[in-house]
Amino acid sequence: MPLEIVRNDITKMQVDAIVNAANCSLLGGGGVDGAIHRAAGPELLAECRTLGGCGTGDAKITKGYRLPARHVIHTVGPVWNGGVHGEKELLTSCYRSSLELAAENDCESVAFPLISAGIYGYPRAEAIRVAVDTISSFLAEHDMTVYLVIFDKDSFVIGSKLFRDISQYIDDNYAAEHDDSTARSRRLELPRMFSAAAAPIRSVKQKVAADMYRAAQEDTCADEDTDELLCAVAANSLEEALGQLDESFSQMLLRKIDEKGMTDAQCYKKANIDRKLFSKIRGDIHYRPSKPTVLAFAIALELPLNEAKDMLMKAGYALSHSSKSDIIVEYFIQRGNYNIFEINEALFAFDQNLLGA
Ligand code: APR
Repeated sequence: MPLEIVRNDITKMQVDAIVNAANCSLLGGGGVDGAIHRAAGPELLAECRTLGGCGTGDAKITKGYRLPARHVIHTVGPVWNGGVHGEKELLTSCYRSSLELAAENDCESVAFPLISAGIYGYPRAEAIRVAVDTISSFLAEHDMTVYLVIFDKDSFVIGSKLFRDISQYIDDNYAAEHDDSTARSRRLELPRMFSAAAAPIRSVKQKVAADMYRAAQEDTCADEDTDELLCAVAANSLEEALGQLDESFSQMLLRKIDEKGMTDAQCYKKANIDRKLFSKIRGDIHYRPSKPTVLAFAIALELPLNEAKDMLMKAGYALSHSSKSDIIVEYFIQRGNYNIFEINEALFAFDQNLLGA
């Protein structure tokens, strides 16, 4: 996954470079600056002394010394001053210049803290927006793995209105685990194609299903009869469904990429999937991806909900209302927001796994 949001202490990250939210002197400080200097040891400060400071929005690189990371990239974020003094442009420049410096030094993996979101007072939701937008646009043109490292839970916030909207959507849709109303609705919620109200009966299977639907509505059969009928119909509809599985996930993915007029690279980058994984999927028509990977491609292809469900089914999955993660993804699809990075921010804010590999 080219852009991951993780909860960790950046000094522990096993990456080619970690980024330090420094001050212009580069001679250490509090916050993440202090933590990095403590973990790297005195040699880091000795090298920093030779750099002659750093301008706001610029970046300079040193070795990592006792850190697991090979390098430290020091950048100086803007102090928040109401947002009308070019703070956003300067913060954007911090991420971009750090990424460019990492690429110049052949770094394949980089970890960022939330620059300026601590002592420098940048509002956290906006700081995250700038970080994710700048990193994701860099990754559209470069192959690199970037981690946005969140040190403490409350430093990761998404817009409060969005958070409330999603919370409400989860409340409205989150299926209770095992209550009898669910069991009862199982009997009544037949697959749409079997509903008695649907198109004229076209096969015996649908005739049986329609009888069962009516009986279940009148609730005249005993549970075991209904379940038996359900199993009979399910077995037949499963046979029918299996008969329709003529296209694998991989084949549907490649077909959809062509139909959308996208290149492979545009699709997997928009899905926040790395090139290596895409090559595996492309090379094996029976490849079994993970559910987050399938959803990531459904988002990248901007599939409507029914087609996203179809793509999931071809990989052996289904959207479930007993999964908060699925409900959050459904929330964004229903609203036509296919920005996978915004979806991942929301998933992270709700402690759910992210979309992508
Ligand atoms: N790992 C990851 N993130 C961390 C860590 C850590 N070990 N420690 C702190 N953070 C997070 C904070 O929670 C915050 O979200 O880093 C983010 C940036 O906070 P600061 O370190 O305060 O950096 P910043 O807001 O950019 O202020 C920079 O603070 O430390 C001084 O010398 C530094 O003067 C400079 C100023």
